Amino acid sequence: MFTVVRCSVVFLLLFGCADSGTGEGGAGGNGTGASNRVALPCDVADIVQSRCASCHGNPPSSSAPQSLLTIAEWKAPSPTFPELSNGELSVERMKNVARPMPPSGLVAAEELAVIEAWVSGGMQGGECEPQTVEDPILNADPVCTSMDFWPAGEDEKPGKTREEMFPGMPCLDCHQNPAKYNMEEGADEVFSIAGTIFPTGHEPDLCAGLDGDSITDVLIRIEDANGNVFDLKPNEAGNFLRKASVAMPYAAKVVSATGERAMSYKPSTGDCNLCHTADGSNGGDPNSAVAPGRIVVPLSP
Ligand code: HEC
Ligand code: HEC
Ligand code: HEC
Repeated sequence: MFTVVRCSVVFLLLFGCADSGTGEGGAGGNGTGASNRVALPCDVADIVQSRCASCHGNPPSSSAPQSLLTIAEWKAPSPTFPELSNGELSVERMKNVARPMPPSGLVAAEELAVIEAWVSGGMQGGECEPQTVEDPILNADPVCTSMDFWPAGEDEKPGKTREEMFPGMPCLDCHQNPAKYNMEEGADEVFSIAGTIFPTGHEPDLCAGLDGDSITDVLIRIEDANGNVFDLKPNEAGNFLRKASVAMPYAAKVVSATGERAMSYKPSTGDCNLCHTADGSNGGDPNSAVAPGRIVVPLSP
């Protein structure tokens, strides 16, 4: 699914490469060579594709301020430090231990070296253009696919188990603070991790999520700070939870028979729905970007 358009130099010179739709540059028009081309050198494009394009795509997402797919975008002034180009600021941020890009942490030294050499060499054009990943699941219009709502404010619903309660709501707000909600104080009510997985990316609160009883190959895989890996299975409402403790921060991904979706950020709260709201939030964590919406199933290959 992460395809990078490659085309031959001859094709590029004659017709340009890929329809980027930016209207910028075009191939070789000024006789000075590659510098105004839209496409990036392939080694640069590969890194942008795997490390940056999920947020700095077109349009940008997860609160990234700009798209970084074309030469023109890399050469343009940064929106917040216009004295620097996006390329120069990218090198600075890719080295910045306190505020790295990507936000999940520093990339490998070899990857940084490729970007740094290209930027200091004046960001010459190349033959490969990173593509924004089409994601019809995550980017679907808001809808409650199940059409099955949990009644607001009720902690029971006839015919349903307690495990199916309040899909999409931040479970740990109650299930790590039982006293606040006059809940019984037994260990059973306190969770370390909980959330909801949905069929599409912007489903409303209280809407039952993915039916894990019918769709049985989907799991939430957590790797905690000590390297312990465990799988959580969504129930009939898409809710999943863990009671035993988890060393923070942790990594999370959704795994199915057709692929996986991994989170690059490592949160220090197990309250998945705090960030994975219908519209997406950073859950009040200043180090986190805004989540792209709900936790959803992987794309089919
Ligand atoms: C998970 C999403 C995400 C990924 C992946 C990501 N960024 Fe960002 N980027 C952001 C967000 C959000 C901001 C705005 C907040 C900030 O500046 O920290 C940002 C800001 C920036 C800025 C500063 C823009 C300005 O004008 O202030 C640059 C430059 C940048 N990113 C470059 C990159 C590069 C290069 C990569 C890949 C190597 C990358 N980012 C990967 C989300 C991301
Ligand atoms: C507004 C507060 C609130 C939220 C949010 C909430 N719960 Fe609950 N939960 C309760 C209350 C109240 C009970 C009743 C049990 C009690 O009094 O101990 C309960 C009971 C449960 C139980 C039964 C506990 C047991 O084993 O005895 C499960 C499982 C559960 N909730 C799962 C979830 C999940 C999963 C979420 C998030 C999708 C969630 N809850 C969100 C308040 C909440
Ligand atoms: C502090 C906020 C926060 C919390 C808590 C959080 N996430 Fe995320 N999540 C994000 C952000 C931001 C992104 C997008 C950028 C990235 O991948 O880091 C994301 C992305 C994801 C993705 C990839 C989405 C996609 O398809 O591109 C998955 C899967 C995911 N999270 C699962 C989880 C699970 C499971 C939990 C709970 C165990 C969880 N998240 C808790 C903020 C959070």
